[in-house]
Amino acid sequence: METSLASLSPPSVILTQDELKKIAAYKAVEFVESGMVLGLGTGSTACHAVDRIGELLRQGKLKNVIGVPTSKKTHEQALSLGIPLSDLDSHPVLDLAIDGADEVDTEMNLVKGRGGSLLREKMVEGACKKFVVIVDESKLVPYIGGSGLAMPVEVVPFCWKFTAKRLKDLFEDCGCVAKLRTCCEKINKKEQPFVTDNGNYIVDLYFKKDIGDLKIASDSILRLAGVVEHGMFLDMATTVIVAGELGVTIKNK
Ligand code: A5P
Repeated sequence: METSLASLSPPSVILTQDELKKIAAYKAVEFVESGMVLGLGTGSTACHAVDRIGELLRQGKLKNVIGVPTSKKTHEQALSLGIPLSDLDSHPVLDLAIDGADEVDTEMNLVKGRGGSLLREKMVEGACKKFVVIVDESKLVPYIGGSGLAMPVEVVPFCWKFTAKRLKDLFEDCGCVAKLRTCCEKINKKEQPFVTDNGNYIVDLYFKKDIGDLKIASDSILRLAGVVEHGMFLDMATTVIVAGELGVTIKNK
């Protein structure tokens, strides 16, 4: 793994988290070349990258780029910017994907999906020759689950409580809590499940301790009938761009 500090002089003012996300996103778009088929990520960081690609196309600085969006939201955004779109059926191999992440560990493994788009993200980013991850430094963790925040698992709605219990039981030794994700809208004061672009639910897992071997954890989750996909992206990122107060760090695999 190779690390470099890109040319960004230390800022004289403190940057907001969103400004750091934008810096990382713009840096990633420098990897985009005319004629590429691109995986377009989802979330507040990826949104800056998609905006920038749209801008460069409009200015004629990029040409003949095709985007494959990882969510309905990104699809809408890219359409509004005039980015030509396609899908994995027509473009099963992509040149490059750019997307944010919720956690990045020291080995460039990721947690993704707190925005709910993990399945399409994993499908699209798994089909890319290069996957550039863009984060602000708050996303760096010593180990996966280390933020104490959610590790999302997409599950089918059928008997989701049964699946959530089995997920919790898998990680009992790590003090796992499994919670159905709900959306902000209530009906008759009742919380409603968050529904993914694929019509599924999300069970968020919270760990009190390190879950250990990630490959074993991944395989055990995927073996449960009722699970569609989980938000651990292991050994998928080829580059991680981190924007922090002291500059931009680029790590390559
Ligand atoms: C969307 O489902 C996610 O995987 C996002 O890529 C991830 O949550 C990062 O989001 P932000 O860029 O908004 O922090």
